[in-house]
Amino acid sequence: MLAENDYPISVEFDPQSGIFTPCPKLTPRYVSDLKQMFHDQQAVEEIIHSGDRLVYEIRYHPFKTSKSDMALGVTRIFPGTVGNEYHMTKGHIHERDDQPEIYYCVHGEGFLLLDTLQGEFRAVPWKAGVITHIPPMWAHRVVNTGDDLLVFVATYHLSAGHDYEIVEKQGFAQIVVKQNGKPVFLPNEK
Ligand SMILES: [Fe+2]
Repeated sequence: MLAENDYPISVEFDPQSGIFTPCPKLTPRYVSDLKQMFHDQQAVEEIIHSGDRLVYEIRYHPFKTSKSDMALGVTRIFPGTVGNEYHMTKGHIHERDDQPEIYYCVHGEGFLLLDTLQGEFRAVPWKAGVITHIPPMWAHRVVNTGDDLLVFVATYHLSAGHDYEIVEKQGFAQIVVKQNGKPVFLPNEK
């Protein structure tokens, strides 16, 4: 006997815009939500004082069943920089250390940054069509280095949990900045 929430659910998704329907939850992230993440604190303050700026949005759909719970998340990162640092997601590591995730870039270009926070760092060049498996022990952040929207799809287990604080304190090993119109990696001085 199936419970009411044990039936398949589908959504309609547009990879160009990153919008799907129906969408039960939308979280916008402004520069003010990402204050500690960007290295140029003066640029951060200037943007906030002139009315703040939307950096990215996440649309979520939880799929809860009577046995196990998956989630769909679609993120749209708008193009731009804060100071010379490209727009990016906050970045997190999963609270549960046995929970991996799939990230699928469907539009735009940039990098997926992966960091164990214990000495291992990878920057995966990302463009539409690249799918990356993120093992449980890697913090993850996406950087939009293009002139267009970057859209990616994430699937994960709802119990994974998100630890943003450790990334906020320590950051990733490297930051991605715009120099002469191109992305350049610099060591994070945090
Ligand atoms: Fe995650």
